[in-house]
Amino acid sequence: MIESDFILNDFETSKVSNGSVTWKTPSNIALVKYWGKQDPQIPENASISFTLDACFTLTTLEYKKLDKNSKSFNFDIYFEGEKKEDFKPKIQQFFERIEQYVPFLKDFDFVIKSRNSFPHSSGIASSASGMSALALCVMSLERELNPSISEEYFNKKASFLARLGSGSACRSIEGKLIVWGNHSDIEGSSNLFGVKFPYKIHKNFKNYHDTILLVDEGEKQVSSTVGHQLMYNHPFAKQRFQQANHNISKISEVFQNGDLNEFITIVESEALSLHAMMMTSNPYFILMKPNTLKIINKIWEFRGETNSNICFTLDAGANVHVLFPEAEKESVNNFIINELIQYCQENHYICDRIGNGAKRLSNN
Ligand code: DP6
Repeated sequence: MIESDFILNDFETSKVSNGSVTWKTPSNIALVKYWGKQDPQIPENASISFTLDACFTLTTLEYKKLDKNSKSFNFDIYFEGEKKEDFKPKIQQFFERIEQYVPFLKDFDFVIKSRNSFPHSSGIASSASGMSALALCVMSLERELNPSISEEYFNKKASFLARLGSGSACRSIEGKLIVWGNHSDIEGSSNLFGVKFPYKIHKNFKNYHDTILLVDEGEKQVSSTVGHQLMYNHPFAKQRFQQANHNISKISEVFQNGDLNEFITIVESEALSLHAMMMTSNPYFILMKPNTLKIINKIWEFRGETNSNICFTLDAGANVHVLFPEAEKESVNNFIINELIQYCQENHYICDRIGNGAKRLSNN
């Protein structure tokens, strides 16, 4: 599919006067990372992520048809019950980017009410779940105006719109394993939207766990927008994009053959490569904290001693995502509680696992 396939041409706004829709949309954790993009939100390499379950955003979009034509977008945004003027520019930019595909936006007055299952200050990026939730709400309104669209088109376009809000958000529509970015080894993959991993997933990955250790709950030191820009003139950019695409080929095999050793090697190397890019960019950053490294070393020690398949990945921050198979949940949970949570801020951590994607909760 190409961009023009996502333009809504035939619609009748008089069909709809007012209503509301609510979506619950998960966060996701990349195993092969997206870091580097071109306009408009086109990734430099393919990425793959586990859709999460416990970390989600709940967004309600209330819409009311305006009597007169409006030249601007009309919306208010509430986050956790509070009106948030400072969230408006990001939403304004999102609406500007998607308007050509959903040309009905200026016909409505919107109230957006959103909250996260995880603390806003936890250092967990909420753009993936937040933008995908809003994109799905907008798609529900599109379906009101044009009920003939298929489920498949609905999800593809929701992912396409979410991408224009935040790249990683396009991987938060469906579960359980999502690929974003054109790749010759992944059938149906696209730079424009995320697709479900198209091959059979080995049972070793069923119900895979991700316990998120909150090492640093502060605001992000580098926003992802700035981070991606650092890849423009990065001396290792080309090699990094090649490495990531090569890792997609390898991890695609792993998801089919269940080789957990190889999974660990790819996933940990990806996390450290992402941080290596930040450490070697201009300006340079170290986003890991001393406790991030302590946790990584403890994980390596535990793996060496017990033959566990525990491993870690990192976002663009200090928190550590501890990944492990369902079969090891008891032993690894004990290890986390006894050995790792002492390195978390106020012992905070979140138990999450691989999930099935977004869910619509109500519409009236
Ligand atoms: C390190 O999707 O937050 O989490 O497209 O600018 O909104 P924008 O960036 P964003 O970048 C995510 C970067 C990452 C890796 C990943 O999720 O693939």
